[in-house]
Amino acid sequence: GRRDLVVVGSANADLVVTVDRRPAAGETVLGSDLAVHPGGKGANQAVAAARLGARTALLARVGDDAHGRLLLDSQRAAGVDTGGVLVGGAPTGVALITVDPSGDNSIVVAPGANARLAPADVRAARGLLATARVVSVQLEIPLETVAEVARTVPPGTRLVVNASPPVPLPPAVAAACAVLVVNEHEARVLLEGDPAAGASGPEERARALLARGPQAVVVTLGAAGALVADRRGVVRVPSPAVTPVDTTGAGDAFTGALCLRLAAGDDLAAAVRFAVRVGAVSVTRRGAQGSYPTAAQLDGPTP
Ligand code: RIB
Ligand code: NA
Repeated sequence: GRRDLVVVGSANADLVVTVDRRPAAGETVLGSDLAVHPGGKGANQAVAAARLGARTALLARVGDDAHGRLLLDSQRAAGVDTGGVLVGGAPTGVALITVDPSGDNSIVVAPGANARLAPADVRAARGLLATARVVSVQLEIPLETVAEVARTVPPGTRLVVNASPPVPLPPAVAAACAVLVVNEHEARVLLEGDPAAGASGPEERARALLARGPQAVVVTLGAAGALVADRRGVVRVPSPAVTPVDTTGAGDAFTGALCLRLAAGDDLAAAVRFAVRVGAVSVTRRGAQGSYPTAAQLDGPTP
């Protein structure tokens, strides 16, 4: 049947240690005990949308191993259709994550099976993609696979691209985006060498990205919320004030929630207002997927 969202992307086991401060090169620091959480930008987006009620499917690749089973269990518990999750070919992707006392994280990803999600896998899933109102991708899978998604998405289905981690986008991918989602760092990387974006703020960068061909650009601004740029102009959307505990996966919560509201027919500014609230709740709890609210929790008392 019809789906709100098909996410094409990565699935990682997140190996998380909380540290007082990050080690410099050549230095050793002791951190907390290890926590292992289901993560990966694609898997996170799918869980975020499904927990909020979206009919969601995931196209991804995990290893035939314990981490892969952890990820599949988490998707199923959230109600995500995992029929499109391919198993085997390489070990499940792993993200090595440190979280500091301010809730900021740094992440190193070993792609594993994510690197084997191939253009042919996208072609084989053409029928799955055709069921979706919205298809989303991020950049933890091969860029040629992302490009194949951009070619395969049927007319009438909106493609949301979260350019994370950032690499220059092929022009055909930028042009196929209904919405390009980036944070400020990612916006800077995508615009490296672009004279239109020199010495500018997020509004100017959003306009410069819009000139690359997407129908709209959303720049997330952390505690400051987000801004929305399309042909009609640029609008800022503030975030509710929260005390961050762990910002890991907040961008994925935001994007998953955005896709849900776009699939429901919201205009982009309304979808971003909703997504900002979801992202804000996610940073008040530890981990990525486990910190994402259900619709009932979102409407309940602010944590
Ligand atoms: O965006 C957060 C995610 O980035 C983590 O879950 C980690 O797996 C990396 O993919
Ligand atoms: Na979190």
